[in-house]
Amino acid sequence: MKTTIVEVKNYVGQEVTIGAWLANKRSSGKIAFLQLRDGSGFIQGVVVKNEVPEEVFQLAKSLTQESSLYVTGIVREDERSPFGYELSVTKLELIHEAHDYPITPKEHGTEFLMDHRHLWLRSKRQHANMKIRNEIIRATYEFFNKEGFIKIDPPILTGSAPEGTTELFHTKYFDEDAYLSQSGQLYMEAAAMAFGKVFSFGPTFRAEKSKTRRHLIEFWMIEPEMAFYEFEDNLKVQEDYVSYVVQSVLKNCSLELKILNRDTTKLEKVQAPFPRITYDDAIKFLHEQGFDDIKWGDDFGSPHETAIANSFDKPVFITHYPKAIKPFYMQPDPTRDDVVLCADLIAPEGYGEIIGGSERIHDYDLLKQELERHQLSLETYSWYLDLRKYGSVPHSGFGLGLERTVAWIAGCEHVRETIPFPRLLNRLYP
Ligand code: 4AD
Ligand code: MG
Repeated sequence: MKTTIVEVKNYVGQEVTIGAWLANKRSSGKIAFLQLRDGSGFIQGVVVKNEVPEEVFQLAKSLTQESSLYVTGIVREDERSPFGYELSVTKLELIHEAHDYPITPKEHGTEFLMDHRHLWLRSKRQHANMKIRNEIIRATYEFFNKEGFIKIDPPILTGSAPEGTTELFHTKYFDEDAYLSQSGQLYMEAAAMAFGKVFSFGPTFRAEKSKTRRHLIEFWMIEPEMAFYEFEDNLKVQEDYVSYVVQSVLKNCSLELKILNRDTTKLEKVQAPFPRITYDDAIKFLHEQGFDDIKWGDDFGSPHETAIANSFDKPVFITHYPKAIKPFYMQPDPTRDDVVLCADLIAPEGYGEIIGGSERIHDYDLLKQELERHQLSLETYSWYLDLRKYGSVPHSGFGLGLERTVAWIAGCEHVRETIPFPRLLNRLYP
């Protein structure tokens, strides 16, 4: 029976064959332990000299790291294995012999591993990170479909910029200028006016000269947008969504979280509702904590976000930021004009901002005035203004950065390990 490692649990006591790679090996005169992986999981194959033909044992002993092979064996339950099963090998068939695999079981530097990202992905740790990433994506689709949202795909090549013009990737679109999307939001607003509740999931690009553990040049964002949703309704969707994702990972990725040594007690607490703090109170709090490097009107840096997050055991919303440090489209607070109806969601344990969102301006004149104030071309944004001309309604939305969310949930130090092929400042290879 040809099967995969994740499915061997269905064949206890039976003989199966799996296609696999040799991740690692230990052997003595009488026995060889093969650490096998096939993409679906990891399993140990045990080859006992007295129980197999001599050539099978000799092949087992000579196998090199990352050689590919077909392994036949009897499935045994094994409590010592984190996976729960092992294979008593009866037959081995070499497919391709690998030589001098560069990533050996010893420690390697990060730059070396990043240069070999195409191979590094095969490691147990990276496998766990990608499985968690996949589960977050799966749970995202499940959550929004369950809540009646429609998935809408905004364009990647765009003629306008939602998040300010300094971080755009410029390209030519035949004779016109074009930019790689830095957010699908403006298109999602159009979609919300057509379909009510929508979400997108796609790549976004920021030519940010930031070299931090939270910044990627190319990252993936989930952007829901809802017609008739005001500021409070928006926060409710966010806390329900993030709780759903975290609880799904806890339920479906327990093995991966164990491989990563993630402290899951902290994740278990992530259940809606989430605490909130206004920007004003956050500034006061930071001053009380001795941060005199920040004043009202400044944006938070990561030490500030971490200090605020550390006083809560769930993600925390920071709300009502000064208008001057936020994009042009945010709805002003009706009770004071210097702050906007927005919120950033800050992950616990120092993982920083994972969501940015707001209620959007729905008044035509006010939006036009803000576009002009930001010196944005009314011609480029005329389609966006149109949305306020024909049946304009209050609406809100947000963007969740997938990689920062993976980093937080997986307990991963740096976003470079949360995406298969990270695009970083000065890294476009492999
Ligand atoms: O706060 P941002 O810039 O918000 C927007 O783009 C809105 N237009 C979204 C919306 O309302 N539809 O980005 C949203 C999130 C951030 O909270 C962060 O998680 C992630 O995207 N993000 C990045 N992740 C990795 N690398 C970067 N350079 C990122 N920039 C933003
Ligand atoms: Mg933001």
